[in-house]
Amino acid sequence: MSIRAAHHRAPTAQMTTAHPFGGPGHSYRGGMPMGIYVPSNEDWYFDAFQEKAEGIVPSLNGLVLGGKGVGKSTGFKEIAARLATIGAGHGLMRIAINDHKSEGEKSEYAKLGEFLGCDVYDIATRSVNIFEPRLELGELNTLEMAIMLCEHVAKAPLIGSPFDALKIAVSRMMATEPTLWSIQTLMKFGLSLTPDDIDAYYTGLHDRMRGQIAERITRYAESGADRAQVEGLEMSLAAIYDRSDNVSHQEIVQSGEHIASLLGTLMEGKYGRMLGGGDSLYDMLNQMAIIKDWRGVSKEAVSLMRAIDHRLEINAIERGLHNLYPNLELDDEDHQSMEDLAYARAKALKSKISRSVRKLSLSGSHRFSDYRKGGIGSELWSYGQSILDDMGFFLIGTQPNKKEYLDELQDRLNISDLDRRLLPDLPPRIFGLKLGETEPLTYVRFIPTPIELGLIQTESANEDMVNRPGLDRSKYERVARETGFALKAGGSSHV
Ligand SMILES: Nc1ncnc2c1ncn2[C@@H]1O[C@H](COP(=O)(O)OP(=O)(O)OP(=O)(O)O)[C@@H](O)[C@H]1O
Ligand SMILES: [Mg+2]
Repeated sequence: MSIRAAHHRAPTAQMTTAHPFGGPGHSYRGGMPMGIYVPSNEDWYFDAFQEKAEGIVPSLNGLVLGGKGVGKSTGFKEIAARLATIGAGHGLMRIAINDHKSEGEKSEYAKLGEFLGCDVYDIATRSVNIFEPRLELGELNTLEMAIMLCEHVAKAPLIGSPFDALKIAVSRMMATEPTLWSIQTLMKFGLSLTPDDIDAYYTGLHDRMRGQIAERITRYAESGADRAQVEGLEMSLAAIYDRSDNVSHQEIVQSGEHIASLLGTLMEGKYGRMLGGGDSLYDMLNQMAIIKDWRGVSKEAVSLMRAIDHRLEINAIERGLHNLYPNLELDDEDHQSMEDLAYARAKALKSKISRSVRKLSLSGSHRFSDYRKGGIGSELWSYGQSILDDMGFFLIGTQPNKKEYLDELQDRLNISDLDRRLLPDLPPRIFGLKLGETEPLTYVRFIPTPIELGLIQTESANEDMVNRPGLDRSKYERVARETGFALKAGGSSHV
């Protein structure tokens, strides 16, 4: 009797003969088929919403790691297309995709966008009013948004009398008709602060924020923040709320001019005039599915606009504005802004408080350290660390073979020595999947259907599919003759 090798259905099978690893599937087998477990070839099902409901993943924040070309973006597209098909999370699934990748003429998500029925928003050509009344920014969030704008321009924390001047200018703006709210209005008020405005601030806006601050802290603590994080948040909110009594009226009036000039900078070239115009952010955020194409936007403007995005989402979550945040957000290569303090702070807060809503956030990057900028223990570093701590699951492609790096990986993911040895040697397109803390690491591979190959939008995926061992090109041609459907370079299409 001779032992015959199993029929190889796909390159995965061949690769895995060279990599005799793998493991059990997961304890929970619900959700949408996404691909296969490697090397067992069993079906792999995934639906983070269900897995969260079952207590398998602690949060709906997921990180897809891996070097260039391992298949991160393809995984994103698969998850978006398949989960959207079953309306995971909600009956209807609202999707936002951020495309930061600077290569190529067209967004690499354009085809997926067509499939999902959404438009590509070319951010570089828009100019928006972030205080637009339909965004329903609350008092605290309006003030924080204004602080963030000024700190972004000043590249330093706002303290002393300029801080007071800004609070008072915001209070004056909020006392006017909401349709007039804008950065320009804020500038105008900054230039004309009076002692009456200062009194009006303490009897108005200042008091109205008290309840919002308490709610924020409660939500944050309930989202799993540890004691030190809660204290950090309390301190930053106290800085906003505390009354400074040693600053003279005269000083505040002068500082108002300084604030106005900081805000004025935002209207200038460096930011591509992205702020202050008549395009509506509400209309963009309110879409069922959108692709935000960030290509062609300067690095500085991306950090600022994305930080604004995070702040708007924090507001939407805090105020229950469910039509203003997505149920699935894809952030391919978003780590580039992590050097920006305002961005990192907003993202860290958002990733914590979004744990209380039904929203799946997938971020993609090369390695952990992309999220931690600044010196160890610095404020910037701690936000990156907090974002990583909030991740509920990981898809890990090939990793750098460096001891310190692998030490952290092993510690953070609680994986075996064998897995630690395998991760630097993973073949492309195979990911180690780690759901929560107790599930074992398993190895998976996304399997696109012929229709989805078009969504993946790259030639090599099609080539791979067409050239799969056991499925030769002539079969596709015969199917095309018989059914009228052909597999073309861009996917399956009618002939
Ligand atoms: N599961 C898969 N099946 C078939 N082809 C795949 C699969 N995953 C990825 N590919 C192909 O591999 C190539 C690289 O994939 P992808 O662009 O997703 O990688 P990436 O990790 O996002 O890379 P980058 O770091 O350059 O953004 C693409 O041509 C893609 O079509
Ligand atoms: Mg990619």
